[in-house]
Amino acid sequence: MELLEIKKAAGRAAVDALVKSGMKLGLGTGSTAVHAIRRVGELVAQGLLRDIAAFATSFQAEIECEKLGIPFYPLNSRELSAGLDLTIDGADEVDTKNYLTKGGGGALLIEKLAAYASASYAIVADESKTVEHLGIGFPVPVEVVPEARVQAGRALEKLGATVILREAVRKAGPVITEHGNLLLDIRFGGPIDPAALESKLNQIPGVVENGFFTRNHPVVYIACSDGTIQTRK
Ligand code: 5RP
Repeated sequence: MELLEIKKAAGRAAVDALVKSGMKLGLGTGSTAVHAIRRVGELVAQGLLRDIAAFATSFQAEIECEKLGIPFYPLNSRELSAGLDLTIDGADEVDTKNYLTKGGGGALLIEKLAAYASASYAIVADESKTVEHLGIGFPVPVEVVPEARVQAGRALEKLGATVILREAVRKAGPVITEHGNLLLDIRFGGPIDPAALESKLNQIPGVVENGFFTRNHPVVYIACSDGTIQTRK
């Protein structure tokens, strides 16, 4: 199977298994989560899902909801402020404990808000995302206010990370997040403790959020190249 088809299979499988009418639904970001959004849109258009109130975790997700006619609201709105029933999102890496790294698309701040505001959480991914140890192969973003670029970068290096300021594509200079911040992409040379780091990184002055997601217990839909879907809890 082609990678696009694999990602599509993961996104659709999670929606078909978990999404019910009346849900308050967090919708994630990225090339896999978009297929979950499209499946929700399809079911809403067919009248098979009713009364969905969605929260879009990024511009990308918001635009997709607009195109598909999925009603979406701010997280502070009357519709959603009591919390979300379920969030479906993608991941950059998933380890054997179902700890995650996210933020490859730069939307980690609001993705984490949605994840931790949700009663249940599902991750959709292709099999290339499964790893033994997080943060070695794929960089983990740390979102910092612009003024903290150098100092926070040094503090991250002291924790053993190599640090790279994420550069924009087709625009000179850094990526600016949807909240006006910078992303320091960090990587480690060997196994780290993701749960400890998730807390520790946010104690560095100027850090807004980081891409370790270890505090909720997602059900992970992993689509494989042979067409099968593994579900890991
Ligand atoms: C965006 C994310 C994405 O969910 C993550 O990068 C996975 O994306 P893709 O499914 O395109 O590989 O965290 O901030």
